[in-house]
Amino acid sequence: MKVLVVGGGGREHALIWKIRQSPFAEEIFCAPGNGGIAEIAECVDIPVTDIKSLMHFAEKNMVDLTVVGPELPLTLGIVDKFRERDLVIFGPTEKAARLEGSKAFAKEFMEKHKIPTASSRTFTSAKEAALHIHKIDPPFVIKADGLASGKGVLICQTRAEGFDGIEMIMKKKAFGKAGNRVVIEDFLEGEEVSILAITDGETIVTLPPSQDHKAIYEGDKGPNTGGMGAYAPAPVLDRRLQTVVFEKILVPVVQGMKSEGNPYTGVLYAGLIMTNEGPKTLEFNCRFGDPETQAVLPLLRTDIVDLLLESAEGRLKDRPVELQDKAAVCVVMAAGGYPGDYEKGKEIQGLNKIYRDVTVFHAGTRMKNDRLVTDGGRVLGVTAVDDTIEQAIRKVYGAVGKITYDGAYYRRDIGHRALKRI
Ligand code: GLY
Repeated sequence: MKVLVVGGGGREHALIWKIRQSPFAEEIFCAPGNGGIAEIAECVDIPVTDIKSLMHFAEKNMVDLTVVGPELPLTLGIVDKFRERDLVIFGPTEKAARLEGSKAFAKEFMEKHKIPTASSRTFTSAKEAALHIHKIDPPFVIKADGLASGKGVLICQTRAEGFDGIEMIMKKKAFGKAGNRVVIEDFLEGEEVSILAITDGETIVTLPPSQDHKAIYEGDKGPNTGGMGAYAPAPVLDRRLQTVVFEKILVPVVQGMKSEGNPYTGVLYAGLIMTNEGPKTLEFNCRFGDPETQAVLPLLRTDIVDLLLESAEGRLKDRPVELQDKAAVCVVMAAGGYPGDYEKGKEIQGLNKIYRDVTVFHAGTRMKNDRLVTDGGRVLGVTAVDDTIEQAIRKVYGAVGKITYDGAYYRRDIGHRALKRI
């Protein structure tokens, strides 16, 4: 088979690394890819939003399966357009991708289908939103309705922070059109965890739960990032709770989308919080998580091409995935200054010193004059697999310590909640 992966971050590198292990994958392309992906796939210089060129490439090269990494092309309808041309593609349609693309849609959907989540109200007027804030007690959460690169969620500890948030999102349009509507919801207390579910619109196959670390500094302090590290399986979501999530969240989403005439296909990322009343949904994403995918896929024994193709062709077999009975930890190495301003073009060294059971996924790298240099805020995702989470943590930090570039920054406490639990 010829497989095209759309995207160019750590998530796409992990997907391609896993796809390469399948005997079905003969040729793998990645658009646009990055410095690390170029070592295991043929990178094609097409931006993820140029759907016309991606389609043209898939047709010309007789691609058998296209796998979409990031949310933007999904919310722009890449799946609908490929399917109109009979091209096989893994992901949700534009309408189904609204579960991530519109927080207001997702909340309304969850309310309608009785999916546990924080109670909320949606506003299209800044004045109405401010009036509502006068009436509720902090803390509360304001979410920009549309895509905002993970920055559109504000946890407000005071009403003043809420008014500032409304001003920034709805009046100053810090996230552009994404701020035309806002959702204001109750703040939920608890530990966060996420689960990735692959579906063909009917059958659901779940991958092991994982936990991201969104804040830039140790102890979960400082501004949010795209994610500074993840581990799997996350013990906070034990087998019993996984069944609860399956029955109360994943099944109602898939059945609900189908009953509304928008069957959900592809991977559904359920961002959850474990409250005293049980697991509740914080958000849905219509794609694999990043960096979660870098910790989850190394544990998978089941052929990923089988799963992706069965989902894309609407014939997903109901089976548990086969997993290694091990733990995986991914530590993200970032550029100094991230998530604020940072420099690019720093030479990366030490990758030749990485040993067995450790894989370095590239997020923001590129080749420059035959040297590997940094090319983004999140630069590398270093993932180790070992028998226990403690051993995987020890192993991953041993590897991270060997990789150097000017300004390299990483958190030293990835996995701290799992360690407390065991
Ligand atoms: N790591 C969070 C996300 O992928 O949205």
